Parts: sequence; structure tokens; C-alpha cells
Amino acid sequence: MWEFTSPRKIVFGEEALEYLKEIEGRRALIITGKTVRKLGFADKVSKYLEEAGMQIKIFDEVEPEPSIETIAKGAKLAREYAPDWLIGLGGGSNMDAAKAIWVLYERPDMEVGAISPVEKLGLRKKAHLICIPTTSGSGSEATWATIITDSAGRTKLELASKELVPDIVILDPQLPKHMPSKLTGETGMDALVHSMEAYVNQWRNDFSNAMAIEAIKIIFEYLPRVYSNPDDIEAREKMQIAATMSGLAFGNAQAGIAHSMGHALGAIFKISHGRTVGMLLPYTIKYNGKNAIELYVEIAKAIRIQAITNEEYIEKLVQAVKDLMKKVNIPFSIQDIGLDWSTFENELDELVRRAIVSSETITNPRVPDEEECKMLFVYAFNNKEIDF
Ligand SMILES: [Fe+2]
Repeated sequence: MWEFTSPRKIVFGEEALEYLKEIEGRRALIITGKTVRKLGFADKVSKYLEEAGMQIKIFDEVEPEPSIETIAKGAKLAREYAPDWLIGLGGGSNMDAAKAIWVLYERPDMEVGAISPVEKLGLRKKAHLICIPTTSGSGSEATWATIITDSAGRTKLELASKELVPDIVILDPQLPKHMPSKLTGETGMDALVHSMEAYVNQWRNDFSNAMAIEAIKIIFEYLPRVYSNPDDIEAREKMQIAATMSGLAFGNAQAGIAHSMGHALGAIFKISHGRTVGMLLPYTIKYNGKNAIELYVEIAKAIRIQAITNEEYIEKLVQAVKDLMKKVNIPFSIQDIGLDWSTFENELDELVRRAIVSSETITNPRVPDEEECKMLFVYAFNNKEIDF
């Protein structure tokens, strides 16, 4: 038995935000961060909800990589205000925070860390969740995961429950238009890694495959376009759709070792998520190729690569990924990110330890042991071709 979980409704395209005027309810709590607030998006969302006859409160204290303390603060406000709608507005961090605040609002008896796929949460007795992404990449609007940072700031709690999948997702291309090129490139690469890792994953299924392969086609075509022209609204819309499709793909299959290794690198060295997973993608394709070559050939064919042998397809696919990375300014190695060898080597065992226990490693098409995982990191440091 397998399941495909998705939001009940996805509203997309120009003017999508106006859908908020149709929401029925009494009180909405908008959960966002200071940057998104400054851009005026929270006010715009408030205005439409007011037109729907709702009262509004805005919690704008979500920081990048939201902490347990922030979640507790947001949940306290929710309990006092008693909204029947929660709105997660922003990038992955804000939407993740909205999911976790929602749980503590509905279940004051619970701790954040207790959110788990096997725990019955019993959500939707007090409120429903709308997610409105302002970036195009995290896919949080379509997944059942939320990542919260523990108090010490060293460990990320990767929590999940199918009940956390939002009720409604609104994709308005005017929102990601504010992103600077760097963020457009990094979030877009994150989306590509989601769909490529989902497509070759051990947990792949026919529904996630359909989402993944279409997203890959869209990203190869539209990411360079929107990177070079931030006002290209058609490309913005396409990337927004592809990011959500990639979220549906990896949310219902799983991500792979570019993510488990990327999470470790990002957490220890404070490097942005899209940069780490994007940089690692070519290495992981070569490594996974031993077990998933036909699936990579399918991806290569979907983006119109022509070749004779499977090996040639894979070489050309890696080159196409690298060409895309070059266009959107993603570094090719850990060294290029700016780390020196001794700083990196000091943490190498910890990087391997963290990556190896991740569920994203366990469902990867080829599961590295500690030695191979270490080699993957070292090769990725030195920009060395994978030969094992
Ligand atoms: Fe990701």
C-alpha cells in the first residue's frame, strides 16, 4: 500500500492572491517574518482577507531556520487569539513555522519535537492552514515536513506528519518577483534537486514520478530565463509551479543524498540550503548512476538530450546540470563555496555521521556506507570526478 498526499486546493497564476477574498472564516493569523512583512505582502494578504470579512493578526517574528522558542511564542499568540485560519506566508522557514505553530495551537499538550508520522495529531478541530510561498524552491507548501532548530542552534529537528499538508496553497507569481537573482538561483536549484532525487528514489511511485519529470522539464527551461530577467512573469509563474510540483514529488517519494549531505554541510558551516544541495547534485548523479542509470536516461531524454549509450546519457545529463548551475551561479565544489581544507577536515567525521543516519540517505538509490560517504564529501571538496 502506498499513499499520495497533497493540498486540497492549489490556486495558481496571476491574481491568485485574490482567491483569499473567497475564504470563509472569522479570524486569521498570518505567520511570517520581518523581510516579507517589509515587502508589503502581509498587508496585501490582510487586505484581501478583510474583504472576506475576517479579522486579522500578524505574527512577523519568524527567523530563518525558526527556533523552538519562536514556535512557542507564535503558538501562545494563536491560543490567545483563537484563529480559524492560519496563513504561512514566506519562504520555507515561515511555512514550516506556521505548520509547527498550528500543531501547538491545536495540541497545547504537545512539544514540537513530538511531531511524528506515527503520532495522531488530530488537527483541523480549531483551524485550517493556507500556505503562500514568496520564494520558489522549498516546496514546504506541498509537503508534510517542518524543520525546526533546537535551542542550541546546532541540531535541526526534521519533523513530519501527513496532517501538516496545507489545506490550500496559493501561488501568485507577483510574490517571488521580489527575489534577488542569488535567491532565485539557489531556490530554483533546490527545486531541481527535489525533483531529480524524487525521480530516482527507492520510494518513487507513479504519482511522484509524473510531478518530478514535468518539474525537471520546466526548471531546465525557465530557471535560466527568470534568473536573467527577474521581471519575466511567465517564467516566475512556471518556476513557482515547478517548485510546488517538486515538493509534491519529494514529499511523496523522498529526497536523497544531496539533501542528507547538504543538510549536514549547511548546518555546520552555515551555508544556504540551495547552494549546498545544488553544488552536490552532479556528484550524486554520478554516484547513483551505478544503481539508477535507466532512470537518469529517462530524465536526460525528458530534457531532450541525445546520446547513444547509457553512459553517454549520464555524462551529458551531468554536463546539462553543470551548465545550469553555471548560469545561476552555483559553485561546483565545497572549496569553491569558500571553505579551506583544515576547517572542512575538522568537521568531516561529524558531516559523515549526520549524513549517514538521515532517512534521505537510507532511501537513496545507492546507499553509501561511512567510507563512501566520506569519499563523496572529499571528492565534492576537491571538485573531483566520482570514480567509485
Ligand atoms: Fe531542499
